[in-house]
Amino acid sequence: MKARSLIERKRNGGRISPAEWRVLMKAYAAGDVPDYQMAALAMAIYFVGLDHDEIVALTNAMLESGATLSLDHLTVGRVDKHSTGGVGDKVSLVLAPLVAACGVAVPMMSGRGLGHTGGTLDKLESIPGFRTDLTLARATKQLETLGCALIGQTSEIAPADRKLYALRDATSTVESIPLIAASIMSKKLAEGLTGLVLDVKRGSGAFLPELDRGLQLAQTMIALGADHGCPVVALLTAMDRPLGRACGNAIEVEESIAALRGEGPADLMTVTYALGAEMLVLGGAATNRNEARRRMEVAISSGRAARKFQEIIEAQGGNPAVVDDPGLLPQAAECELYLAPRGGVVAQVEPRAIGRGIIALGGGRTRVEDTVDPTVGFVITARPGDVVRAGEPLATVFARDAAGVASGRATLLKAIRLADDADPPLPLISHRVTEAGAELWDADA
Ligand code: URA
Repeated sequence: MKARSLIERKRNGGRISPAEWRVLMKAYAAGDVPDYQMAALAMAIYFVGLDHDEIVALTNAMLESGATLSLDHLTVGRVDKHSTGGVGDKVSLVLAPLVAACGVAVPMMSGRGLGHTGGTLDKLESIPGFRTDLTLARATKQLETLGCALIGQTSEIAPADRKLYALRDATSTVESIPLIAASIMSKKLAEGLTGLVLDVKRGSGAFLPELDRGLQLAQTMIALGADHGCPVVALLTAMDRPLGRACGNAIEVEESIAALRGEGPADLMTVTYALGAEMLVLGGAATNRNEARRRMEVAISSGRAARKFQEIIEAQGGNPAVVDDPGLLPQAAECELYLAPRGGVVAQVEPRAIGRGIIALGGGRTRVEDTVDPTVGFVITARPGDVVRAGEPLATVFARDAAGVASGRATLLKAIRLADDADPPLPLISHRVTEAGAELWDADA
């Protein structure tokens, strides 16, 4: 494999053929192309881009580098949700059991923290004993019995993406539409889905902050799904502030449990219901989004959704008692309230600064091999637009020691900007994108 000549061609604006992508990604997954060459290629793609046919070819090459789930024997729809990455974004933890409790199978394959964003796998693993490294055979069994499996990308599924994902994180090549689209869709298309819902983040904390780039990413992934006969719906949602209040691993699990019990923060519930409604309709469990929402509300109020989460935790080796007693989750050694240093309007709660602050506390990675402290993070009660008095509590820092508390305080001082007035934040959900095109979000449609 002449990786060097492909890097050179791409760097000079040339194209790589489908056959070349296939050989390259297979060789990379097998360890026959070194990381330094793949990093150079990723950087060339970051600057030069890929045309649509190349994105299709790269996606297929990564998909074909591994195995696929075969779920055709399930009698219900199989729908997953994937987010392009955010801070405080614990929607997957709520959505997977909720949608499964409403009769759609959810083979959810998630990732670890990437850049400043958190990862569903890291959050789930803060539940004592919880295993995300199920084999495909075991995940299939669990889908048959419980209608949901929450797994990581095993070495069997799109192994080329698995390596490239970690490499991009370490080489500042995440923020590329072709690379994000191929990464997400190679994994999702391996899941044997009958539908996929995407949460494409926009705003300062998103990998692609600008609306037009978010829309382009959504349309690229929808086209990739269509090529494989998998209908895809994308919602564009705000990441100019964290979602919900908790930002960290165990504390996000705690907030997710509250949400499954009907006590979730309003913004988290709005996004969860909107994405869940698309999943129920795609999965054939509801005929329209209003009916879907009612079904989800009943699943929560009846306790069925929380029970489903308990069953999933138990099946995956975790302690199901955390759902009744979140105090069993790992707890931070230190916590301290953060008080408003002045009065005014909360002009911004900047997600990138919060995400980086969690990494500084030990709750995320700077290197692939880093271990993650599940206990640390922030609970931020201040929302953009709130009017606050000096000395009023805005947030709580969770840390492992006094130095962590000081670092967390410094993060919040930077991330929560108080001013005399403030621009309105982005709409929580702004667009709905399907194969037919993009439309402004209408909650009642
Ligand atoms: N999520 C993924 O799976 N891949 C990316 O590149 C970004 C977000």
